[in-house]
Amino acid sequence: MMAGVDETCGDAPMSIRPKDVPQNKTENSSRRPAISNLALSSVEAIKNADEICQQVTSIEELRKAVENFDGCSLKYNAKHTVMGDGNPESKIMLIGEAPGAEEDLAGKAFVGRSGQLLNKMLAAIGIDRTRCYICNILPWRPPGNRSPSDAEIAVCLPFLKKQIEIVAPDYIFMLGAVAVNSLMENAEGISKLRGKWMEYQMQNGKKAKVLASYHPAYLLRTPAQKAKAWADFLRLKKEME
Ligand code: URA
Repeated sequence: MMAGVDETCGDAPMSIRPKDVPQNKTENSSRRPAISNLALSSVEAIKNADEICQQVTSIEELRKAVENFDGCSLKYNAKHTVMGDGNPESKIMLIGEAPGAEEDLAGKAFVGRSGQLLNKMLAAIGIDRTRCYICNILPWRPPGNRSPSDAEIAVCLPFLKKQIEIVAPDYIFMLGAVAVNSLMENAEGISKLRGKWMEYQMQNGKKAKVLASYHPAYLLRTPAQKAKAWADFLRLKKEME
């Protein structure tokens, strides 16, 4: 580990922080960043991320800034910084949790099995993936695909919010509990949140309609829930029409 890295993005070295131990990762586990509980190092990293975001005006500038950002130690275990994929002028933005092993290797969001299922579901409602902008709450893979900590989410959230503001979508489709709980600052379970339209207000005042559904990885593990996710995709299609 690089010097000082274990002091960033958390209130203790992440390897010994109890909250960072994967705890029965289920689709309903909600993890909401609670800034008041974060260590000073994380608060400073968030401040630094906010300042960086005030200076960037394009996705390309943001990509470079995130690649150079040192406030989150996840970066040092990851092979790539995985920013959004697709059309940055899209009216539809899809947001997942974090890159998995394949995404980390490829440097591109949702290219593994989850991504293939996502592509199929999008195609089934007549949307080619390349028409959308697809990204994650975190640009770096948590080691072993563990759940991200509150501190990691809080430090990376300014970059996601800036990404949303630059893309300025009309519709945001959130994939899974971690994504929707983090962006919407909501601790409710995904089975309650999914399928209901919500609203997200960007820092510049623009509003987007938000719909949450199950994460494709969860659907791969629990195919019985595919019908509900399919209903959510149809809701998205109907609203866009
Ligand atoms: N799961 C996610 O949440 N994002 C990806 O990019 C891949 C898998």
